[in-house]
Amino acid sequence: MPETTWWKRGIVYQIYPRSFHDTNGDGIGDLQGISQRLDYLQWLGVDAIWISPIFPSPMADFGYDVSDYCGIDPIFGTLDDFDRVLEQAHSRNLKVILDFVPNHTSDQHPWFLESRSSRTNPKRDWYIWRDPAPGGGVPNNWISNFGGPAWEWDEATGQYYYHAFLKEQPDLNWRNPEVREAMFDSLRFWLRRGVDGFRVDVIWHLIKDAEFRNNPPNPGYQSHQAEINRYLQVHSADQPEVHDVIAAMRQVLEEYEDRVLIGEIYLPLERLVAYYGKDLSGAHLPFNFQLIQTAWNAHVIEKLVNEYEGVLPDGGWPNWVLGNHDQPRIGARIGKAQARVAAMLLLTLRGTPTMYYGDEIGMTKVEIPPESVQDPWEKNEPGLGLGRDPARTPMQWDSSPNAGFTPGEPWLPLAPDFQTCNVEVLSQDSGSILCLYRRLIDLRRRHLALSIGQYLPVQSGGQVFAYERRHGAERLLIALNFGHVSQAIDLPDRVGKARVLLSTVRSGEWHVEAGCLDLAPDEGLIVALEEG
Ligand code: GLC
Repeated sequence: MPETTWWKRGIVYQIYPRSFHDTNGDGIGDLQGISQRLDYLQWLGVDAIWISPIFPSPMADFGYDVSDYCGIDPIFGTLDDFDRVLEQAHSRNLKVILDFVPNHTSDQHPWFLESRSSRTNPKRDWYIWRDPAPGGGVPNNWISNFGGPAWEWDEATGQYYYHAFLKEQPDLNWRNPEVREAMFDSLRFWLRRGVDGFRVDVIWHLIKDAEFRNNPPNPGYQSHQAEINRYLQVHSADQPEVHDVIAAMRQVLEEYEDRVLIGEIYLPLERLVAYYGKDLSGAHLPFNFQLIQTAWNAHVIEKLVNEYEGVLPDGGWPNWVLGNHDQPRIGARIGKAQARVAAMLLLTLRGTPTMYYGDEIGMTKVEIPPESVQDPWEKNEPGLGLGRDPARTPMQWDSSPNAGFTPGEPWLPLAPDFQTCNVEVLSQDSGSILCLYRRLIDLRRRHLALSIGQYLPVQSGGQVFAYERRHGAERLLIALNFGHVSQAIDLPDRVGKARVLLSTVRSGEWHVEAGCLDLAPDEGLIVALEEG
C-alpha cells in the first residue's frame, strides 16, 4: 500500500450525527445537516468524515443498536439524503466512512425476532443462546459493558441470550458462516454505493470463547469503577479466532478499490497491534486510543509514542485519536491551554489522525442535569461519572439561539459558553483554537514530513516532548511544552538555521538564534531545521 494512499496521508473527522446539525427541527442532527456543513469541513481541511451509525434503530444505544443494516433511520433522513451527502462529499474530495456495528444487532432486528421465536428457528444459531448453568441461573459470570449480567433470560424458549452491551443489543454468533455472509453482504451494499470504508464497532468482541468459560476476577477492581471491570475480559473478547473473521471482512473491502477498514479496539498496545493481522491481512487501522487513556505528561506520552512505534508490525500504518463519542473530551480532561498542545501533537505525529467534532472549537464538557440524561450507560450505572452525554452535546456553529444547531429543542443541552465558543466567532479570531487546527491541518498537508515522514525521538527534558519528522531533505522539529512554565531545549547538533513555522500560542514565524529553543508556558512549536 503506497504512502500516498488517502487514509495514510489524510485526516479523519468524526461526526456524531445526532449532534452535528439539525435541519428539520426535531432537535436531532440529520443527513441534510451534514450536507450543509460540508463547506465548513472543506474549509477546515480534513480529508474524510466518519459518521457514527445512521441506520434504522430503536436508538436504545443511539444507533449502535441496528435493526436494518441496509437503510437509513428516518430521524437522519433517507437513502437519497445519504447519497447526496456521499456525492457532495466526494465532489469536495472528502471521503466518507460509515460505522459498521457487527457485534450485535438491535433486539428489534428481524433476525433476532426470528431467532428468539423458537429453539428450532433457522436463525436460532445466529445469536448466542445458552441453557442455564447446571444449578440454575446465568450460564457464566460475564458482565455487560453497561453493567449487570450479560445474559438475558428468554421465558418463551427457556434459554439465555448473550449481550455484551444492553439487553436490547443481542450479540450475533460470528462462528456461524451464515451470519458472516449476511453481514458481509450488508458491507457490499454500502461499498457499492461508494462509501470509502468502515469504522468497525467493538471489532475485538466478535468472537467469544468457544467454551464460554468464566472470566477471572480482576484483582485491581475498585468499587468506583464500572462493573465490567470486576473481571478481566479474558474469555469474552480478543480471542485468537477473531483474526480470521477480520481478514475475511477485509477481503470484502478488497473487492473494491481503495477502501479502508478501521477497527475500534480497546486493548493494550501489544495486543492491539495483532489487529493489523497476519501479513497485514486485518484492519488497516486498529484504532490507537493510547492518547485518551494515558496521563497527560511529557515523559509518559514520549514513552508511549516510542513504544507504539516500536511494536508496530512491518508496514503497519500508525494512527492516533484524541477523542470520540464514548470518552471525555480532551479539552475537559487537560484544559483549554493544553488542548492546543494536544492538537499539535495529534497533527504532527506519524500516523493517521482522527479528530472528534467540536474538539477543534475547544468544546469541553457540558453538565447534564439528571432529568436530561440520555446515555443508557449513565442510566444503568449512575453517579460513577461514566456518562457519555457531556461529550456528545450539539456542535456550536454560531451565536444564534441553540448555536445554530437546531431550530427546535436540542436533544442534549448546549454548552453555556456557545455564544463565544462557536465556529463563526472563532473562525474570525486568528488566535483561536479553531484557526490553530486549520493551520496545523494546512501545514500537515503542505509538508510531507508531517504526514508520511519518519518519526525520530529527540532528547529534551523537563516537561517538553520533542521529536523530528523527516522526509527527503526536510527536517521538522516539534517541541511541545506540557508544563505551565517556560522551558528551553537545545536544538539538535549540526543545525545551522532554524525557523519556527507555527506556535500554538504566538503568532507569525520567526528565526531561532543561538541553538536554543525557548518555549512559552503551554506552548507547542513546529520548527524547520536546516543543517549548516
Ligand atoms: C462502541 C461504541 C459505543 C457503543 C458500543 C456498543 O464502543 O463506540 O458508543 O455504545 O460500542 O455498540
